Amino acid sequence: MRRFQTRAFPLILAALTALPSALPGAASAQDFPPVDQLPSQPGPPDPLVMFDGQRVTSPEQWRSERRPELIALFQHYMYGTTPPSPNHIEAKIVRVNRQALGGKATKKEVEITFPGAARPISLLVVVPNDGERPAPAFLGLNFCGNHTVMDDPSIAIPQMWVYDNCPGCQDNRATEAGRGGHVGRWPIEQCIDRGYAVATFYTGDIDPDTPQFADGIHPNFYKPGQTEPGKHEWGTIAAWAWGLQRALDYLVTDEAIDSSRIAVMGHSRCGKTALLVGALDDRVALVIPNQAGCGGTSPSRGDVGESVTRINTSFPHWFSDTFPEFNGREDRLPFDQHSLIALVAPRPVLLSNAQEDTWADPEGQFRMLQAADPVYRFLGVEGLKADAMPELGKLVDSRLGYYIRPGEHSVTPEDWKVFMDFADKNLPPASE
Ligand code: GCU
Repeated sequence: MRRFQTRAFPLILAALTALPSALPGAASAQDFPPVDQLPSQPGPPDPLVMFDGQRVTSPEQWRSERRPELIALFQHYMYGTTPPSPNHIEAKIVRVNRQALGGKATKKEVEITFPGAARPISLLVVVPNDGERPAPAFLGLNFCGNHTVMDDPSIAIPQMWVYDNCPGCQDNRATEAGRGGHVGRWPIEQCIDRGYAVATFYTGDIDPDTPQFADGIHPNFYKPGQTEPGKHEWGTIAAWAWGLQRALDYLVTDEAIDSSRIAVMGHSRCGKTALLVGALDDRVALVIPNQAGCGGTSPSRGDVGESVTRINTSFPHWFSDTFPEFNGREDRLPFDQHSLIALVAPRPVLLSNAQEDTWADPEGQFRMLQAADPVYRFLGVEGLKADAMPELGKLVDSRLGYYIRPGEHSVTPEDWKVFMDFADKNLPPASE
């Protein structure tokens, strides 16, 4: 049993749900060879074949052997390994408004701390008031601070580095002028109206997206003498995913939220992170990586849009220091991104895309879904019910879902409508 405390309210002791069976580090990685000794595999490697070439013969073997092995492979060669989950978190509700959005919702700001935190995670949680039972929720990282996703003067503004293109940003610092600047990306009222709660925090609470690690969580986990993450240790995307797991630690104890119906949604780099946390943590009931592209949902072996070499050059801190060894030799990767999707099985995944966002390779993403489909079927559940890319604006709402709309790289209220249509179908309440 792990401890969860809230200071502003009476002390609550609550058990957190059991951690996922295949936690990071569950399989040993010491036997994985150096990159230049990996065999060339020009096509996407079969997720149902073990690293030693043996075919997976039962769902039980998938769960107990192959899934932990694949997680270890992704961590060893691409995202980096993470520290173990802390054995307790502390959650302090610092502000509550029970009459938010004209009385339709309760808005809470929750500060989550844990051993090794660089600073608290400031989780904004907005829950519908009229729910007769705990609400399903969307959890996701935001790019510019909680104050940008809701126009509310009480929401705390991040004090650390933010992107210079964030609304209201001055000298890489957030200001009052940014309030409500991203409500279009986070149409919270629309979610509340459809019965969904929303929980989000700024990526910088874990690690600001700068190409060094000094300003985030990483240094707090260095061994004596260490000055940067080791060759196989976590980059920024793995750290963000680990931070989402801390938000989950809290959310599964929040009585207003249905802990069995938490979806993780993320846009672009936060979509890469959404898929990773969905792959690692089976408390995530549904995953929506929106336009996540290279290093997320599109093939590393693809030749459209962003390449492995390019992403490792532009964003050297996102992955571990081992991933650049695959630059120009992606055929050596012992997986492709369909295997990350398959790690979510049997839980639902929706890949959503925009026609003009060729940088994120929408066609390649569809191929990744097709290649993940055999794992879903092997586990006895529906996979992808489409033989070809759907028409623009038409949702494929099978358990492996796909959507592409006209327009460019962004996330819009219309996209959220599709996310909720997909969640209505694929994340029904337990009694239905
Ligand atoms: C860049 C990057 C992508 C990323 C995107 C984003 O375009 O190359 O990999 O997904 O930024 O996060 O918006």
